[in-house]
Amino acid sequence: MAQPLKLGVAGLGNVGAALVAQLARERELLAARCGRAIEVVAVCARNKGKDRGLDLKKMKWFADPVALARDPGIDVFVELIGGAGDPARAAVKAALAAGKSVVTANKALLAKQGVQLAMLAEKNGVALNFEAAAAAAIPIVKTLREGLAGNRVARIYGILNGTCNYILTKMEQEQLPFADCLKEAQRLGYAEADPSFDIEGHDTAQKLSILASLAFGSKVDERAIYVEGISSIQPADLAAADELGYRVKLLGVAVRTPQGIEQRVHPTMLRKDSSIAQVMGVTNAVTVDAEGLNPLTLVGPGAGGMATASAVLSDIADIARGLKVAPFGRPAARLATVRKAPMQRHEGGYYIRLLARDRPGTAATIAKRLAEQKISLESIVQRHPKGEPVGEGKAGAVPVILITYATSEDAVRKALAAVGRDRVISGSPQVIRIEKN
Ligand SMILES: NC(=O)c1ccc[n+]([C@@H]2O[C@H](COP(=O)([O-])OP(=O)(O)OC[C@H]3O[C@@H](n4cnc5c(N)ncnc54)[C@H](OP(=O)(O)O)[C@@H]3O)[C@@H](O)[C@H]2O)c1
Repeated sequence: MAQPLKLGVAGLGNVGAALVAQLARERELLAARCGRAIEVVAVCARNKGKDRGLDLKKMKWFADPVALARDPGIDVFVELIGGAGDPARAAVKAALAAGKSVVTANKALLAKQGVQLAMLAEKNGVALNFEAAAAAAIPIVKTLREGLAGNRVARIYGILNGTCNYILTKMEQEQLPFADCLKEAQRLGYAEADPSFDIEGHDTAQKLSILASLAFGSKVDERAIYVEGISSIQPADLAAADELGYRVKLLGVAVRTPQGIEQRVHPTMLRKDSSIAQVMGVTNAVTVDAEGLNPLTLVGPGAGGMATASAVLSDIADIARGLKVAPFGRPAARLATVRKAPMQRHEGGYYIRLLARDRPGTAATIAKRLAEQKISLESIVQRHPKGEPVGEGKAGAVPVILITYATSEDAVRKALAAVGRDRVISGSPQVIRIEKN
């Protein structure tokens, strides 16, 4: 058998500890599958004295991840510290520069520095693998990079944040407000004490930026993404969606349009019978529309130590087997600069919930403003959604739900601004984009 593959693992938290445990548990299986043993020879974390339930006696301990990354005793540097800055960034760069392959689960680092790191890996002839960085255990990176190497992708969209999907599922199933469901998610450990990164859509955006690069051969560019979170969603929206045959999900969507690659993260209405609308709770899912194929949907755990370690392990196994592909599926120098499709030119159907003032002429005014922007309506619902108090406490206001045919973001924004100026509605309208599927 060939020489063992020697790993240095930096970060022994949720993912790192699960990885070291699974490598020990599946030692023989991995050796049989890869044709060589895989050994953790060195580790690094902040607190040496912490009990992690692991036997680390035979492993060299490093307090400094950069020193571990440069250690001549390792073949592969596994970065499981996290964060876009140092020490993760410095350690990954040091490992690549020292000619060592890197495996990482760090979406923040890849979203910010993916292209530079891929160039460094290619220059040094080593692998940079990151299956766990988007949707953890779902093998979407390999699907896009290898499984669909010969297919042109038209669109990729997915539920990439389990916290948001848990909250929306609970809001829908138990008709509870957002704040109550967020608290429950925090109690169960699904949401961070500061949940804003997840619920405002930024976590989804980082993952989407990586997937869009793989799907469209463009440079990873988190800044090209339009981002809107779920905190404004109300039970009334979910109940109305249900009545109309839809379900609301926080989606990351990247789609090829005549204007360029449109990348967006926002609450989205999907037909209830679509595969992705069935995905409930903390589970993640990604659908790829590729030419010549029916849509391909992958569903599975998008977080958790074991689930993430499973993806990290698959990347390590690739290196042990001698497999190496360009990190983003083509030489980094040939990744195109993203032509960002402006959000105002997004086209699709819209759900609009208004609190219309209950007085003569209101309906005509709203209809006129929509017509001015050439917006046609597929349906109008004026009755109160299930369980909703009349007028949400606002005397003399009637909830009106409009579903539009395909129109542009710009037209919807202009029509609603005009309706606002006409003073025929109370508060701000709720707008949710409808994704065709
Ligand atoms: N958890 C998930 O479900 C999940 C899913 C997908 C991707 N990921 C990604 O996986 C990576 C790790 O996540 P995690 O949940 O395992 O994080 P974590 O539980 O917070 O673990 C981080 C580890 O890094 C160590 N560390 C932090 N700063 C360090 C420093 N300056 N020097 C040396 N070690 C340092 C910590 O040491 P101590 O233990 O001594 O504090 C800890 O062992 C992140 O990039 C994350 O985005 C996680």
